[in-house]
Amino acid sequence: MALKITVIGTGYLGATHAAAMAELGFEVLGLDVVPEKIEMLSSGRVPMFEPGLEELLAKHVAGIEGSSGRLRFTTSWEEIGAFGDVHFVCVNTPQKHGEYACDMSYVDAAFASLAPVLRSGALVVGKSTVPVGSAERLAATLPEGVDLAWNPEFLREGFAVDDTLHPDRVVVGVRSERAEKLLREVYAVPVAEGTPFVVTDYPTAELVKTSANSFLATKISFINAMAEVCEAAGGDVAKLAEAIGYDERIGAKFLRAGVGFGGGCLPKDIRAFMARAGELGVDQALTFLREIDSINMRRRGQMVEMAREAVGGDSFLGKRVAVLGATFKPDSDDVRDSPALNVAGQIQLQGGQVTVYDPKGMENARRLFPTLAYAASAVEAVRGADVVLHLTEWREFRELDPEELGAVASSRVVLDGRNALDPTRWREAGWTFRAMGRPSA
Ligand code: UDX
Repeated sequence: MALKITVIGTGYLGATHAAAMAELGFEVLGLDVVPEKIEMLSSGRVPMFEPGLEELLAKHVAGIEGSSGRLRFTTSWEEIGAFGDVHFVCVNTPQKHGEYACDMSYVDAAFASLAPVLRSGALVVGKSTVPVGSAERLAATLPEGVDLAWNPEFLREGFAVDDTLHPDRVVVGVRSERAEKLLREVYAVPVAEGTPFVVTDYPTAELVKTSANSFLATKISFINAMAEVCEAAGGDVAKLAEAIGYDERIGAKFLRAGVGFGGGCLPKDIRAFMARAGELGVDQALTFLREIDSINMRRRGQMVEMAREAVGGDSFLGKRVAVLGATFKPDSDDVRDSPALNVAGQIQLQGGQVTVYDPKGMENARRLFPTLAYAASAVEAVRGADVVLHLTEWREFRELDPEELGAVASSRVVLDGRNALDPTRWREAGWTFRAMGRPSA
């Protein structure tokens, strides 16, 4: 009989994982402690913007016309315990307020609620990003006869559905052959399609996730450090990235210089990794991550400086600044640790009149930065602006008509903080175009 799967926590990770498991043919029960989320998901609606996710849910949520009916949601732990053979824990581990370490309280609470309701023979699978050593500690909290595996998730927001259905690799940290066998059953379809299946111990599985994110963050901060040097030396970081990226050992991906990385993962993961290394007595091994973090944070300040120069040098007082982009990356409505909103907030604090527009992130941005002004379109944001900042690389912004914007802007100055706009198009329409790490003309 096919395995029955539960998913604990229905954020980006959990909601996508639950829908993907139903797509792979399993019966799935998802749980969240927030009843409103369960209500939404049960009617096939997604509490965040993630391309393709709503369609996948509609295809499987029970009660929706034409659906497979394989996916249901609940708030009852008893129901979860009675239903599942394999329980995926997908709750988040945000950065603790004022500390580098991550907050394990949601993971700990999920395990505490699961432990008393689990059937003997069940497998609990941790997916949350946790400090190395957590799996071992959590395994000891589970009842006799219940096994634990750690199975980190590498999905990117904006590509969550595709990344989950067609992962680059599946990594499982296990202690028993049975756990490995069950997870091979869960991932049989992607593995049959050629996805590598890497079996490790607990600490290695936990570290694969944090080291992969540290490497990605390092790549971005490396190219941003090169952008700083290019700015001083008159070089062009976009050309430099292209040229070094042809070396297959380096690779062309994740070398886009700009205002740097944000979001709910990379910044907090490298900080939590440093905190954990300190506890393990190997903090020196990760001191470079402190530099990666500060290069990244410095980019935001440098964007503010570029904008100040663009409006005349001394101050933002009386100046209108249009900010295109609020989310930390395109194709997402996530504004957590967003460089765009950070820059917008800094400029406002320095007296600038900032108007923000984003295709999908307005609601979340308003909640986080209620004092910023928001416009209903890019053209409205740019109306009357002394400078336009491009801070999230949505396709919509690449397709804007510089002529149309030029007609409503107060002065035609655009700063590309993502190296994604076409300088020629903007310059031909009479704009002064500057991009981070690239020469002015
Ligand atoms: C990341 C990892 O990619 C993913 O594997 C992991 O599971 C979770 O963390 P995500 O946070 O969704 O995913 O975003 P990602 O696409 O990695 O981008 C992170 C940030 O880096 C964004 O702010 C993006 O704009 C920035 N970035 C990315 C750059 O500044 N330059 C680049 O070249 C690439």
